[in-house]
Amino acid sequence: MKMTVTQQRLQDEAADAILLSHWESEDKFSGETAAIDAALKGRLRELLKNGEFSGRLGQVSILHVAPGERVRAKRVVLMGLGKRKEGSLEKVRRAVGTAVKAIREAGAKSFATPVHGRALPESGRATGAAAQATVEGALLGLYQFNAYRTDQNNHIKAVKTMTVVADGAESLAEIQQGASAGQIISDAVTFVRDLCNHPANVMTPTYVEHEAKKIARERGISCKVLNRPDMQRLGMGALLGVSLGSHQPPKFIILEYRGGSAHERPVALVGKTVTFDSGGISLKPADNMEQMKADMTGGAAVLAAVGAAARLRLPLNVIGIIPATENMPGGSATKPGDILKSLSGKTIEVINTDAEGRLILADGLTYATRYHPDVLVDIATLTGACVVALGTHAIGVLGNNAALIEELQAAGEQCGERTWQLPLWEEYYEQIKSDVADMKNTGGRPGGTITAAAFLSKFVGESVWAHLDIASTDWSDRERGHIPKGPTGVGARLLIQFLRNRANGASAGARANGKKTSRRAAAKRSNGRRP
Ligand code: BES
Ligand code: MN
Ligand code: ZN
Repeated sequence: MKMTVTQQRLQDEAADAILLSHWESEDKFSGETAAIDAALKGRLRELLKNGEFSGRLGQVSILHVAPGERVRAKRVVLMGLGKRKEGSLEKVRRAVGTAVKAIREAGAKSFATPVHGRALPESGRATGAAAQATVEGALLGLYQFNAYRTDQNNHIKAVKTMTVVADGAESLAEIQQGASAGQIISDAVTFVRDLCNHPANVMTPTYVEHEAKKIARERGISCKVLNRPDMQRLGMGALLGVSLGSHQPPKFIILEYRGGSAHERPVALVGKTVTFDSGGISLKPADNMEQMKADMTGGAAVLAAVGAAARLRLPLNVIGIIPATENMPGGSATKPGDILKSLSGKTIEVINTDAEGRLILADGLTYATRYHPDVLVDIATLTGACVVALGTHAIGVLGNNAALIEELQAAGEQCGERTWQLPLWEEYYEQIKSDVADMKNTGGRPGGTITAAAFLSKFVGESVWAHLDIASTDWSDRERGHIPKGPTGVGARLLIQFLRNRANGASAGARANGKKTSRRAAAKRSNGRRP
């Protein structure tokens, strides 16, 4: 879909639809809505009066413009934003996401919209943030994945153009900027959804490699890919161990975006990329196993975020590390009881081959520490336990530095992909002690998300590190506004917001990491444990 920003009266927009909003239970319209209502001779007010439309979040009413009414568009769509005092930009995204689907269903090919949610205190009343949310709601809400539908191609409806209408010259530049960020961020999320939607017989580690190289080419990012012989030479025994049961060769992808100055320490992002997780010899039950094609969301989010950082020209150095493999139960697969030697030199007893994510991340994290990153963040669909602990509305966050965790939490609140911290106390480390190796790869059922993070922490060296568990949020069982059914593309928005905040100087972690002394203070403040 093509998105443009113009400055003109909404009434004069010749689109198939214009999209207006209203806060729940308020009896008056304001701004553009009031103007259009007047042009429609009070027909919108009529909807409120007769109780047909209250402004409930997700509610949508469509009116056709009648001859003689001074609105050029064919339809006027009114959407509810919910109660003003409970309002948020995430609700704006959800409302817009729902409304654009109604617009598409109505057969409209184009729509024009003002910026919604401008008055929200959350956005600091910033018009740019609201414009971004409006565009994200629309682009993410209209997402469809039809790459494999040969039967329905002729019937698929699509909205072709979106016009964001600025109400005045003063706000135009800000709206343009916000809308353009919204476009870049939505493209990143769309990219993640696409990668996760593609079935595992197509989306192999080799396919991910091609996608990474394509992004690198387009965005002027450097991309290096390690193949099995390189991994063997380096000693990436954990990643190699996971790949043994598969016929697909593993790939270790390294992206380097250098937008900062040469001496500046990079942000390192590591993303779990298991293009299919069958569980390996510890085979998963058949129910819902098909969803394990999305066990690469973390890596896709890293790829998307590094690409977006380049597109946004963020003045930062960012390293993206993507260990990619299948987890399959082939004849030469790793077996329970096998011991792997990781890149760090530490040995791991594999108790359960289905706890493969932490194995590939172990080598990914160790590799990342060699860049001496300012901060190290990994993101992974790591544990089913995270779904149990947090349900589908929060990303689990753990780590060894309170400031970095706060930074991620703040970014989550801002972008709508919220995180919730779990403890990483030293008591949990008991659970991953092995009788025969340095550690084992599972800690039993209690605190499964925590013991997984405890395992990861053994591979971060001295880095300021945080781990994001997106297992509960990467897949949605139902459609919710801008979140589709199936792969949600979670993680990209959070990582990009985190990077943008850092680019704006709001980096608590960097401050903590800047000097030796303050760094030690940061470690002290940490509620985690340094391995
Ligand atoms: N990819 C799964 C985790 C997962 C589960 C992601 C559900 C999304 C939805 C991971 O590799 C896994 O299998 N974890 C095991 C770990 C266990 C064996 C310690 C799990 O959570 O059951
Ligand atoms: Mn698994
Ligand atoms: Zn997995």
